[in-house]
Amino acid sequence: MRNILVTGGAGFIGSHLVRLLVNKYTNYNIINMDMLTYAGNLENLKDIEDKKNYTFVKCNICDVGKVNQVFEKYQIDSVIHLAAESHVDRSIVDPLLFAKSNIMGTLILLQAAKEQWNANFSNHIFYHVSTDEVYGSLGDEGFFTEQTPYDPHSPYSASKASSDHFVRAFHDTYGLPILISNCSNNYGSFQFPEKLIPLLINNIINNKSLPVYGKGENIRDWLFVNDHVRAIDLIFHKGKLGETYNIGGSNEWKNIDLVKLIIKTVDRLLGREEGTSNKLITYVTDRAGHDKRYAIDCTKLKDELGWEPSLQFDEGIEKTVIWYLNNKEWLKNVISGDYQAYYGKIYKN
Ligand code: NAD
Ligand code: DAU
Repeated sequence: MRNILVTGGAGFIGSHLVRLLVNKYTNYNIINMDMLTYAGNLENLKDIEDKKNYTFVKCNICDVGKVNQVFEKYQIDSVIHLAAESHVDRSIVDPLLFAKSNIMGTLILLQAAKEQWNANFSNHIFYHVSTDEVYGSLGDEGFFTEQTPYDPHSPYSASKASSDHFVRAFHDTYGLPILISNCSNNYGSFQFPEKLIPLLINNIINNKSLPVYGKGENIRDWLFVNDHVRAIDLIFHKGKLGETYNIGGSNEWKNIDLVKLIIKTVDRLLGREEGTSNKLITYVTDRAGHDKRYAIDCTKLKDELGWEPSLQFDEGIEKTVIWYLNNKEWLKNVISGDYQAYYGKIYKN
């Protein structure tokens, strides 16, 4: 029996993780703590909200009193921490918000875990979910390994780097049993359509322009979200405490090539003539401080824990586009903001 606190479980990756844990481990209690920012959507979890081993608590991770109450009330023995402001462009507009949620929020959770577990750390885990962006930007060659020095460039990646350092500091100073993973770009169902792939799908469906930053030459390493949460499950159960694991798709795409792939897939699935939506491509001013290339070396995760991605990219993209086409109502609610009323209808705590 475990009582696991998942933070940020109403977001994109968090909702996939919560679903996996609730369905796979019926003997675990999964407590989802999320403050439901614009990126948190309980409709993502409709299919499991009535399960006996699932509880939702609306809470800002920066609220010290409430975080501690949740640890006590649910006798939390482990944390898988995903709650964060996660969009680089928003961090350029409001860096303070990112410092509050991503740095202070993580610190408040670490402190609650340390105090509530009262230096008796056996059978406890604090797992921090982080990003490859902490490593900075690559040139044409090379990969990020777990030894790559941190070199963040955006307020988002700086806040995630800082939170990673605090997590390690709690391990080195107090002996808190921690795990960290740093993952590359995720794609899949339930992703908020301000991130590149769902934004493109939505705009192609609606014949809206497709903004490509700069010349579209930046490179990202894409991983299907279900494979990310399979990796988190594996690391949580089998990872060596105190260690970091890189997670990635070994699947690098130049943005402009990815845009063309998505256009081709959506046009085909909508029965449009091939290339119909190419005219929507619009080159726009580049993102400030735009990292050139991310690419993950996840040999450690593969060799030590036996993880492999389950899908080829073309299959993953096909599934993802089909999901958005079949879930236009979800997309419409997210874009109109209607999803935010869902909490009020369902939850009272
Ligand atoms: P998301 O923006 O979709 O979801 C974030 C969730 O956290 C939302 O439900 C939001 O309501 C919640 N949240 C934000 N601030 C909060 C606060 N102060 N208190 C409580 N809840 C709060 O993000 P995502 O893409 O699912 O990313 C989840 C985690 O994974 C983040 O930590 C992110 O840095 C990391 N990550 C994301 C990717 C990616 O490609 N999306 C890749 C690697 C790592
Ligand atoms: O690498 C992991 C990170 O991936 C995560 O830590 C972040 O939470 C997640 O948001 C993602 O960050 P990116 O900035 O790489 O993702 P985004 O989808 O915003 O952009 C992907 C690439 O596409 C990037 O090079 C910027 C570019 N882009 C993005 C948008 C939204 C465009 O060209 N046009 C756009 O409209």
